[in-house]
Amino acid sequence: MNDDRTHGLRFSPLAADDETTVVQWLRLLDDSAGDVPGAAPPCAVDMRGSLRFPPPATKLEDWVVRHDGSDGFDGPDGRVVGALRLALPDGADVARVDQLLVAPGLRRRGIGRALYERAAGIAAGHGRSALAATVVEALPGGPARDAGPAAFAAAVGASRASMPAGVHQWLDLGTHDPLAAGVPEVPEGYSLVTWGTITPDEYAVRVSVLEQSLGDESFEEVDEEREVRTSYAREFETMRVGRGRRAYHTGVVHEASGRLAGYTSVSKTTGNPEYALQGMTVVHRGHRGHRLGLLLKLANLEYVLRHEPGVRLVETANAEDNQSMIAVNAAMGFVPYERWVSWTGLVGSGG
Ligand code: ACO
Repeated sequence: MNDDRTHGLRFSPLAADDETTVVQWLRLLDDSAGDVPGAAPPCAVDMRGSLRFPPPATKLEDWVVRHDGSDGFDGPDGRVVGALRLALPDGADVARVDQLLVAPGLRRRGIGRALYERAAGIAAGHGRSALAATVVEALPGGPARDAGPAAFAAAVGASRASMPAGVHQWLDLGTHDPLAAGVPEVPEGYSLVTWGTITPDEYAVRVSVLEQSLGDESFEEVDEEREVRTSYAREFETMRVGRGRRAYHTGVVHEASGRLAGYTSVSKTTGNPEYALQGMTVVHRGHRGHRLGLLLKLANLEYVLRHEPGVRLVETANAEDNQSMIAVNAAMGFVPYERWVSWTGLVGSGG
């Protein structure tokens, strides 16, 4: 789009080896770090790595937009003024907007709308019929959040999706010690195992099945020999290592069957020693009801702090209808901060 307000915008793909543009893009991310108060600062190693290492079974389209300084535009000439990342999961009908960002000083001039229209064009070019985006919104009774992104999403024709929102939560170890009473006893018949960033071969397929089915699928039909090398766990690790992330896992083994019955995962970027991300925790449905979820998370937190003593803030997110995990998190001292609401817009219908 090139209306009066956005004349002079130039879009170009963001390539990992275009150092000048990458540096400007990283500056844009730093300049926007205050958009969500309290968010983890962007890590340059992580963001650079993300340009080369997409998530499993996903193609990324990264774009920047510059302004040439014409038409009295008072932004910096030729500098990156906005960025777009579209994630295209294999076989899906939808393209996910992972980043749609305008430089804070240059908002409300139509650049966001131009980025959204570009996103719709790219999505259509990949045969997708919809765009999906996550918008940060305030929780009832929670800290105030900028209402601009939701107003923007509505203005470009997207609508709030009906699926449950995510609840973003933080644990501040400076004010609350979830390990004060120690790690609970391991129930009889189970034992704990730990591993770092790379999942041992013996668990790679089970971790993949647990993660992808959220603990609902049977292990019986899995052909381990065939799948370890190309498993979801291995592909996810490739992304993590490429982004300079370290990870810490604790698993629970059901002793009678020798099977991994569940696990939990915490990861860290290179650049933010104080911050960690509590990722997936899953217990197979046949082993629920033994408080294994809380045990895994507490045991793993102890494991993390042994190796990463500088960690002070741990973030996590769960669907708001996942009451059992939100209760586990509350028991550990996690506090909800904001909602991550899904919005969707149709591609090729003006919205
Ligand atoms: N308050 C109310 N309405 C807004 C706001 C706001 N802060 N920002 C945009 N809008 C609405 C208005 O209707 C606006 O039209 P108008 O200016 O003629 O009234 C319309 O959206 C288009 O605004 P643009 O000028 O094109 O948008 P902008 O360049 O300011 O970028 C964006 C908006 C991307 C949300 C920017 O504020 C930003 O980078 N925020 C942080 C990143 C973010 O939250 N991105 C998620 C976007 S949601 C999504 O991608 C669907």
